[in-house]
Amino acid sequence: MCGIIGYTGPLQARDIILLGLSQLEYRGYDSAGLALLTDEGNLYLRKTVGQVSRLKELCREAVSSHCGIGHTRWAKHGGVTEANAHPHQVGRVILLHNGIIENYHTIQKQYGFEGLATSETDTEVAAQLINYYYDRTNDPRQAIRRALNIIEGSFAFCILFSDIPGTIFAVRNVSPMVAAATEQGSFIASDVTALIPYTKTYFVVPEYHILMLRDRSICLEDPEGNTVEPELLSVSWDVEAAQKNGYPHFMLKEIFEQPEAFRKTVQPRLRDGIPCFEAEKIPDSLLSGCRQVQIIACGTAMYAGMVGRAILEQKVRIPVTVSIASEFRYDTPMIDSDTLVIVISQSGETIDTLAALRLARECGAPIISIVNVKGSSIARESDYVIYTHAGPEIAVASTKAYMVQLAVLYLLTGRMMVARRLTSEEEIRAFTEHLVASADSIQEMLDVIPDQVRIQAERIAFSENAFFIGRGLDYAFSLEGALKLKEISYIHAEAYAAGELKHGTIALIEKDVPVIALATQDKVFSKTISNVREVRARDAYVILITKKGASVSDEVCDVHLEVPVEDGFFAAFPCAVILQLLAYYTAYARGYDMDKPRNLAKSVTVE
Ligand code: M6R
Repeated sequence: MCGIIGYTGPLQARDIILLGLSQLEYRGYDSAGLALLTDEGNLYLRKTVGQVSRLKELCREAVSSHCGIGHTRWAKHGGVTEANAHPHQVGRVILLHNGIIENYHTIQKQYGFEGLATSETDTEVAAQLINYYYDRTNDPRQAIRRALNIIEGSFAFCILFSDIPGTIFAVRNVSPMVAAATEQGSFIASDVTALIPYTKTYFVVPEYHILMLRDRSICLEDPEGNTVEPELLSVSWDVEAAQKNGYPHFMLKEIFEQPEAFRKTVQPRLRDGIPCFEAEKIPDSLLSGCRQVQIIACGTAMYAGMVGRAILEQKVRIPVTVSIASEFRYDTPMIDSDTLVIVISQSGETIDTLAALRLARECGAPIISIVNVKGSSIARESDYVIYTHAGPEIAVASTKAYMVQLAVLYLLTGRMMVARRLTSEEEIRAFTEHLVASADSIQEMLDVIPDQVRIQAERIAFSENAFFIGRGLDYAFSLEGALKLKEISYIHAEAYAAGELKHGTIALIEKDVPVIALATQDKVFSKTISNVREVRARDAYVILITKKGASVSDEVCDVHLEVPVEDGFFAAFPCAVILQLLAYYTAYARGYDMDKPRNLAKSVTVE
């Protein structure tokens, strides 16, 4: 939520900031702004409602500056207006923010800032407060520290002082922020995507540490004012990975990257044909000793968890609960040191997931996280991390990250079967073979299915509602299919356990309502087909997805799509491709920008 970039160094700050903002735009895109300290000693501040392209238009005049900060906003406090766009200037302080200042109202009252604000944001209060202390101390670090003693909430601040040219100050709590000092200058950003054109080495700004960026150097101070060395990390992907490379949208590109992401995630975790987490140092005793599994995540990651539950319960015979992180964090969880907690997050920064993880830790549960972004908060706070190797996921709608989260959950299931001695060597090798072959089934889908799916997408594109139904594992796949469709095409979509439909929801089925029915599970195949007949009898438009070769009579559905798997247990992977493409082409047919769906942002770092 909200993209931040700051630069100080020998290059032109404006160009770097505008480029960085377009790379970070997936974090928020309702308004944008930048502040430059010019070489003449002036402040150049421009803000606009709308996307970064509009900010670029606004910043055309000649200006030379080597130090500045920029922001792309996802509105939280206050509507989408130019006044509410960041950065905010109060006195000598120019500040931008990602997060939420929870006690902003109290601060306003206590310090008499009410009536002085020029925006409706909580952010402006932080600028007022720092300016208040700066006026009294003339010391930027003291001013920031004193403000930090008062501000409650989550924040990543980048701050310029108009009388301190060439220096950017930054500090954060919870909200992410990374930085790097390079030969081309010093950079700060809300995520590493914006740093990649300049460096692959960076560090995560530690919470409550004050960072000062100057031309090609940085200084990091802990909360007591001691200078500390940052812990350097490196990224393994390069600049092309975060570009569209000829695809019309990031989402489509990321769908097509799935076979590679899958292989990169699975292959390093196989030893002699058996899933293995030696590199992650996950002991078998942890996997064999737990009495239950608690999965925690949000959105798509949570739906990956639903598949995780189905496969773990089926193969490992262990009770698994899947919790929505935003619920879990305020529950009274029934977990302890015998519960294995699996936290799933692409970004590793989702605030609810992070808070839920912290609560799980307090309960004494060991935590394995499945995370895509290296060095992210969730990764750092877990006992064990299994990194998915999807590379940067830019499209707001998660696709390849979901695919590799599933892959890791299958690997974990396989390893748990081994650790708990529930499988023979022959069986686990067969399991692994099927899993490895899933990369091919994903590829086969990508080779043959797009045109068929596009035709179906055009057929359903102007429906108001859609239903996804399935039983068992198919129901778990349906959940993600429905989320994908609604978040980018804005069609109301619901996933239903097929057998549950006639307990109420079937009342919504009428002529031509699209029903996407998944029937890849042998055990419940005929039962699901009966449910399909029920909606078909009410004139629904049925797109049926089955395993290849399944016997389906013509009158059951309008369209029959097949996935190339023998064992329905591994149908998750090719089914995901169909459901993702269906959402993509539907949004396309409706003329929406699926990379930037309305009201959404990639990484949800506020509650
Ligand atoms: O970064 P995370 O995996 O923790 O994000 C969780 C959800 O916010 C995310 O999956 C969201 O549901 C996406 N919009 C799904 O496409």
